[in-house]
Amino acid sequence: MSRDVVVVGSANVDLVVEVPRRPGGGETLLGGDLQRLPGGKGANQAAAAARCGADAGIVACVGHDADGAFLRDRLSAAGVDTSTMIGVDGATGTAIIFLTPDGENSIVVSPGANAALDIERAEQHAAAWTGSRVLVLSLEIPAATAFRVAARAAACGTRVVLNAAPATRIAPETLRLCDPLIVNEHEARAALGDDTTDAAGLAVEDYERLAGRLREAGACSVVITLGPAGAVVAGGGAETPTRVAAHRVPVIDTTGAGDAFVGAVACELARGVDLVEAVRFATAVSAVSVQRVGAQASYADRAEVEAFIAARAETPGA
Ligand code: RIB
Ligand code: NA
Repeated sequence: MSRDVVVVGSANVDLVVEVPRRPGGGETLLGGDLQRLPGGKGANQAAAAARCGADAGIVACVGHDADGAFLRDRLSAAGVDTSTMIGVDGATGTAIIFLTPDGENSIVVSPGANAALDIERAEQHAAAWTGSRVLVLSLEIPAATAFRVAARAAACGTRVVLNAAPATRIAPETLRLCDPLIVNEHEARAALGDDTTDAAGLAVEDYERLAGRLREAGACSVVITLGPAGAVVAGGGAETPTRVAAHRVPVIDTTGAGDAFVGAVACELARGVDLVEAVRFATAVSAVSVQRVGAQASYADRAEVEAFIAARAETPGA
């Protein structure tokens, strides 16, 4: 079986509440209606890749509960092959998400079934991820599983995309497998083992240097996402760090925008597009996603993304 994109990662039910502001310690706030939406970084990435047109599959653990059935159903509806999802004892992963009026969020993840995605379970479906053109990994599953899967898939000729989120240090032997490593500002510094520097004072040039350092540390290619400042790409054809601008759009909810970006990059790489072009397309995919509530629930299909890009081309400077 040869797929375009296989994700080995997490799946969560997102419990989303709109709040007027982030609660402080010891404080009780009244929020809006509770929304129950499909999420989890791995599931979001697979859904995004499929919505962009990739033949995508996912290896993820969910509980034998209504939440697990809900996540399988939503992924199938997005076009993802869920036959390699694994049912385990215990609760499906859950994310508690506070959404503030600026579209920003605070997220706490209770891993639940995602913690059961050990190497043995991932190996049950090794044929899927060693046979895929592109493998996507993120770190809401046990890190040892992600790193082992990366090594074995790369040895089989699969292109490994590692989204090192949540932030963690990445050992040189894993960095060398990443083509690309995709990280945000904070994750970029954590990947190098430097999470002390304050991001606030850093300019885009600093991130170009950081991307260069990640390549020197071993990464084949690197993408650092900078939110409204766009992204920096190094390697994968961009021998000097290259900036890709973001689209300025009204922001409703950024939850899962990074995952939409990662899934879209993977889809484009599987189609044979070069990394800078893949990032350009992915920037549009995430720009559409931030304009609607939810993660997977906000992802556009390829036709909508292409219409968005075409409309942007007619309004230069937007
Ligand atoms: O990246 C966004 C995702 O992070 C949410 O869907 C939530 O489930 C958490 O995993
Ligand atoms: Na969204």
